[in-house]
Amino acid sequence: MSKPIKTSWQSRTRDEVQALCMQHNFWTWSAQAEVDPLPVERAQGVFLYDFDGQAYLDFNASVMCVNLGHGDGRVIDAIAEQARTLAFAGPHTATRVRAELGRRLAELTPPGLDRFLFTLGGADAIENAIKLARGHSGRAKILAGYNSYHGATHGALAVTGDSRRLAWEPFLMPGVVHFHTPYPYQSIFPAHWQDSDPARVASDYLDYLEQVVKSEGPSTIAAILLETVVGTNGVLVPPDGYLQGVQELCRRHGILLICDEVMAGFGRTGTWFAVEHWKVVPDLMVMAKGLTSGYAPLGALAMTDEVARSFDHRTYQGGLTFNGHPISLAAAIANLEALEQDGCIDHAHVLEPVLLEQLESLKSHSEIVGDVRGIGLFGAIELVEDRESRKPLERVPDGIPALKYVQRLARERGLFVSGRGSILLVVPPLIITPEQLREGFRKLDACLQDLQARVMDPGSVQAL
Ligand SMILES: Cc1ncc(COP(=O)(O)O)c(C=O)c1O
Repeated sequence: MSKPIKTSWQSRTRDEVQALCMQHNFWTWSAQAEVDPLPVERAQGVFLYDFDGQAYLDFNASVMCVNLGHGDGRVIDAIAEQARTLAFAGPHTATRVRAELGRRLAELTPPGLDRFLFTLGGADAIENAIKLARGHSGRAKILAGYNSYHGATHGALAVTGDSRRLAWEPFLMPGVVHFHTPYPYQSIFPAHWQDSDPARVASDYLDYLEQVVKSEGPSTIAAILLETVVGTNGVLVPPDGYLQGVQELCRRHGILLICDEVMAGFGRTGTWFAVEHWKVVPDLMVMAKGLTSGYAPLGALAMTDEVARSFDHRTYQGGLTFNGHPISLAAAIANLEALEQDGCIDHAHVLEPVLLEQLESLKSHSEIVGDVRGIGLFGAIELVEDRESRKPLERVPDGIPALKYVQRLARERGLFVSGRGSILLVVPPLIITPEQLREGFRKLDACLQDLQARVMDPGSVQAL
């Protein structure tokens, strides 16, 4: 009989865990000596718990992915059952879980998107989207938004528009052209600062994109890639007409449309996929995060039959050992079933007014909040030095990044928040109750009052 694996490490204390993690772990997206990881022992529902039993309301669904909430027994049982039956089968096996997840996803995705390549996460789904678009069209260029994030691998980072890309230039994948997407509050069109009528914003950004396409040469462009609703760069909801216009432009020039729904998908915006708000059907759609609610790593690339057929008699050169891992597929099936059973997608839609009301209230009594935006349970708070200049508030006077400062204050109050630069995000699990949402905002409000005092009068508040 095999011996049980030793589990003495499971009783390590907070300090031991912290010390070992600092000693052996190399942290992503961090300066190694400056990282301050949240100690997490367990999680349940909308709460994370540290080793002393302190609860943190999870206002970021961990990494904007735990849509179903933490510790759901239905998903955990499905994972355990799959591990007992068939823990692993390679990418070229026909398994029950592969069959079932494909069937289910095809019912949820927009009509026509019913072939799936299962990946390990969002970035490698983006990599495959780029390959398929290029392989299908025979064209090289990918156009992507400046205000975007698509992942950290070399191709995904090359299409990413925000500053995370800059650290690795010029060593990234060639053939990418960036363009500006609608951002009324910080618009590249000065007129939008006074008049941000959605129809005008949509048409100005569409006219500009048409110019970019013309200048690049439409016949050289394989695809236009967009986050359907821009996520970490500030929950930028496209004005009505914009995505429809991009789709029309793509069709006119034989350019594929790729929508990245890694963050916006699986109920985050109050519909299964954000494209549904504008009735847009892309040629390729990228998913991850909420696909398993984080219970196991998985991404997926949905494609039309037309794109898939390009490779009917031509080998698709691409794939990883763990593509379509049975445990991840089982987690996704149970997660989708649970999201449906619990009405999480409708719940996100129903709670949108509460989110918007709370965001507006925050803005109404905080001078450093320049703009707030939201859709479903996807919210953003844009911090500014002053409302007149709209200059992003990146740092508090003593040089600490504003986000880090707020995160520390929030941690003291039992709230876990995240964001990027001057943007705070509100991305809770979709099972959050209205009262929990309000409670999170009360805590956030107190943090912002503290931050504001520090910005306006640096001496008045004790340094953290
Ligand atoms: C919109 C978007 N696309 C792609 C990715 C990359 O996903 P992953 O981290 O699973 O590689 C992310 C991750 O945050 C994302 O937000």
